[in-house]
Amino acid sequence: MSQLQKAIDLLNQNEVVAFPTETVYGLGAKIDSDLALKKIFSTKERPFFDPLIVHVDTIEKAKTCFNNWNAIAETLAKHFWPGPLTLVMAKSYLISDVITSGLSSVGVRIPKHDLALNLLREVKIPLAAPSANKFGKTSPTTAAHVKKEFGDSVFVLDSEPCQVGIESTVLLVRENSEISILRRGAVVKSEIEKALNESKVNFKWTDTTDKKESPGHMKHHYMPEIPFVICRDPNMKVKELSQIVNDKLASLPDIVEGVKMIKPTHKINKIQFLNLASDPAQAAREIYSQLRAASERKPDLLCLALIKDYSKEPNAEMWESVLDRLYKAASLVID
Ligand code: TXA
Ligand code: MG
Repeated sequence: MSQLQKAIDLLNQNEVVAFPTETVYGLGAKIDSDLALKKIFSTKERPFFDPLIVHVDTIEKAKTCFNNWNAIAETLAKHFWPGPLTLVMAKSYLISDVITSGLSSVGVRIPKHDLALNLLREVKIPLAAPSANKFGKTSPTTAAHVKKEFGDSVFVLDSEPCQVGIESTVLLVRENSEISILRRGAVVKSEIEKALNESKVNFKWTDTTDKKESPGHMKHHYMPEIPFVICRDPNMKVKELSQIVNDKLASLPDIVEGVKMIKPTHKINKIQFLNLASDPAQAAREIYSQLRAASERKPDLLCLALIKDYSKEPNAEMWESVLDRLYKAASLVID
């Protein structure tokens, strides 16, 4: 039996299946099965307050997930789909509360990945899929990462490493045409603005989101197995760094906003330093893999020196998306 057929059969038996997308690997379940959807939460150990993103293969199917499709959605879907942009709008009756954590809105996207699109086409029913990792941990960008995370308990549709490497941009589109970026990603604000302006669509940016509109935005997320610190001080010596980390990390709370903190269990001796690529798209593609690979070497601490002012670098908006993930992956930032 082909890999694809096995994935289809499992999904039809109300099981979860991991599949590749251009951003990160997802852990999918059919949206018409609350039983399967609940397995996503139990497999990931994910709290029910964090809503899932729905994946479809056509704009027609995306429309059935929403209550109202408008000119903003039409323009952005045509411009960016398939691709790493999730649109959040009022949900239709097809979308269960298990997916949205009880919210009246749902996030939907078309992934830019042939195997994912084949799967979605064959299964016919949209798939809800968060990133295929344990809650709070580093997202997977290869099939091997997913296998490491869940062992044999989850079937993984195997493909190349993900091209984008960080999760999709999440854009909230309100009925009054106000829009807000809820999560940064590879589709950046200026591109969204350009697409809407070129199509002469009426819209207004707003930053004021209340907590209800934007769940799942914990301070700590994407954390690797080994405590990870970001150092912004160009003059910091390694010895001093160990000292500060020993003092500060040990006194961090065990759980922050429901996420278990990764802290040192013993004194820090061996520090593994990470290197960030000089191009932000490449940095995005590599960061989760780097965090995982460096953790496997079992140092006492991972450290990334972030000295540059990335707001002055070319493609600064993409850097913001990359830095967003890095800061959340870190247990501590030393200024
Ligand atoms: O690139 C991606 O988006 C990947 C791949 C697999 O497609 N998926 C992904 O899912 O990153 P996940 O579960 O790790 O992220 C879902 C996040 C939530 O934590 C929340 O921030 C936002 O998407 N979200 C989903 N539905 C929402 C809604 N109705 N309102 C506001 N935010 C929502
Ligand atoms: Mg995730």
